[in-house]
Amino acid sequence: MRRIWRQALEAVTPYEAGKSLEALSQELGLPAIVRLSSNENPLGPSPLVIEALRQEAARAHLYPDGGSTRLREALGSWLGVPPDWLMAGNGGDELLGLIARAAFEPGDEILMPKPAFEPYGIEARLSGATPVEIPLRGYDTDLDAMLARVGPKTKAIFLCTPHNPATTIIRRGPLDQFLAKLGDDGPLVILDEAYRDFSDDPETPDGVALARRWPRLIALRTFSKIAALAGLRVGYVVGAPEIMGWLNRVRAPFNVNRFAQVAAVAALEDRAHLERTRALVLSERPRLLAELARRGCPAPPSQANFLLPRIGAQARELAAALLKAGILVRDGGAVGFPEHLRIAIGRPEDNARLLEVLDETLAAP
Ligand SMILES: Cc1ncc(COP(=O)(O)O)c(C=O)c1O
Repeated sequence: MRRIWRQALEAVTPYEAGKSLEALSQELGLPAIVRLSSNENPLGPSPLVIEALRQEAARAHLYPDGGSTRLREALGSWLGVPPDWLMAGNGGDELLGLIARAAFEPGDEILMPKPAFEPYGIEARLSGATPVEIPLRGYDTDLDAMLARVGPKTKAIFLCTPHNPATTIIRRGPLDQFLAKLGDDGPLVILDEAYRDFSDDPETPDGVALARRWPRLIALRTFSKIAALAGLRVGYVVGAPEIMGWLNRVRAPFNVNRFAQVAAVAALEDRAHLERTRALVLSERPRLLAELARRGCPAPPSQANFLLPRIGAQARELAAALLKAGILVRDGGAVGFPEHLRIAIGRPEDNARLLEVLDETLAAP
């Protein structure tokens, strides 16, 4: 038999993103579902973004700028790096795939925490490389265990801070020591900072500063969360120009569409809107954490825009009750934390409703 499809694909299960919001609304007969299962931004995009999209609509027939030049320039001045230290992608997801395509080969080992954002493992497997999963210690990334597992076959290490789904950060000091121990000829380190914008802990590392110091470190960030552009798909990586050179070899010519590019530039111009989103998360997060803990559902100290409360045996029942009330949350079991729920921080009224349903469900016999 002629083999058509790559053998590596047999080890990959398609990513299950769940039903669309529209399909769910229809199925449940609920016009307005509050989705707190995808770590989205409850405020929606900036009015400047909406206006930029409106103006761009008439240019839909023209290919976008393949190099996302204006966006990289705007990002460069925001982050304090030259544009050749940046690459934009069709969401952070695409960039994970480009890194894998450019660097991972059969025989390589790719270290990652367990559990972790699913695409790390998928991309490693797709490349024919072997994912090596290092269990979290409680809710924390275990850098010592990772270091102990680094060997000649280790091609790359995925780190996620704040961690999805565990919500915790890797602290600056231990990360510095970890990188120093990897040395000059160490593996590639991909520091996923998709949720960094929601961190208020001074110990949070800064991937951009680290990328300047460590030529094999790539910081990954996204406009999906803080800038509320998840539906447009735009993320970026920061790293040495040499790394961008390799990634450019595997990038499709027009990987970021023109709407995503103008929207991302407009989002950067509306600092007040970014600040509003951050302020919402930072004010609701401690309140929600305390309210959950008071109800016997403690959660790790989140530095992200979502929480991971331990509910106990009633976790699934609570998720079902929330869904009936029009609030969608993520079952912790599906992301490596049974008896937990992963819940994005919503608007104050959504969070209040969530607590009401929790009270009704946990009080029920
Ligand atoms: C940890 C982590 N990294 C990366 C991403 C990718 O984000 P996007 O593809 O929306 O830019 C996500 C999205 O949820 C995430 O949770």
